[in-house]
Amino acid sequence: MSSCARSLDGAVDHPRILGASIVRMGTVTSTMDIVRQLERLGAAEGITVIAASQTRGRGRAGRSWQSPESAGLYCSILLRPRISPYRFQPFSIAVGLALCEALDPDQQIGLRLKWPNDIVYQEKKLAGILLTTSLGGALVESAILGIGLNLHPDTARPDHAISLTEIPGSNPAAVEQLFESIARMIGLRYDAILCEDPERALADADARLALLGRAVAIEDGSMTHFGQVIGIDDRGALQLATSSGIVAISSGELTRGPRS
Ligand code: BTN
Repeated sequence: MSSCARSLDGAVDHPRILGASIVRMGTVTSTMDIVRQLERLGAAEGITVIAASQTRGRGRAGRSWQSPESAGLYCSILLRPRISPYRFQPFSIAVGLALCEALDPDQQIGLRLKWPNDIVYQEKKLAGILLTTSLGGALVESAILGIGLNLHPDTARPDHAISLTEIPGSNPAAVEQLFESIARMIGLRYDAILCEDPERALADADARLALLGRAVAIEDGSMTHFGQVIGIDDRGALQLATSSGIVAISSGELTRGPRS
């Protein structure tokens, strides 16, 4: 029986399962480490660790994630999708969209998803997503989703960062409340992934995409692609209009303008 069929008969309800079991901690190295340990111990899907601070918070591409005490939401969630990597592929973009949706439901604030994984306000980074996966045979056996969201200003953060309280019109609720709405939105999109409905998983992608229509450069290993952002496809790849036609880029680091 597919994961989706289980969700329809009520046995699996991802919007509710995600965040239903929360472990709150003080200072940890990284919530990714704690959830990894829980995963090895056989913890159920949805278990979430939220820490007050991290001493070795990790970001994408080997970067660190500044995690000062009580200045942000630092959490990791365990997933057990058991679907192919191909079907799971749009998930990380779906999470970014879910974060935008939870924090800016009516698109009044102007939060945007900077492909692939950053939530930005006027090009300043508000939140980031780190996703690790473990394969079991041909399936994604487990995944750990880490989310870092800046809630209050802190001098430890880089200049290009911003916190929710600094953004006009935002609603910087308590961490618990924010996490609840974030988990719900991620759960809905996760459910769509399990139901093989990438269109629902990536709903509103173009409307929430940063740099839409702009000239960008994307560095992917030794390759750099230049072009104009035209959207996100149903695998979560960024569609670029380049001098040799439209290309879909599935990974890389995006910067504004050619060589900017
Ligand atoms: C990025 O933008 O580079 C991703 C940042 C992810 C940070 C979060 S904070 C909670 C979880 N624990 C970590 O060590 N990293 C993620």
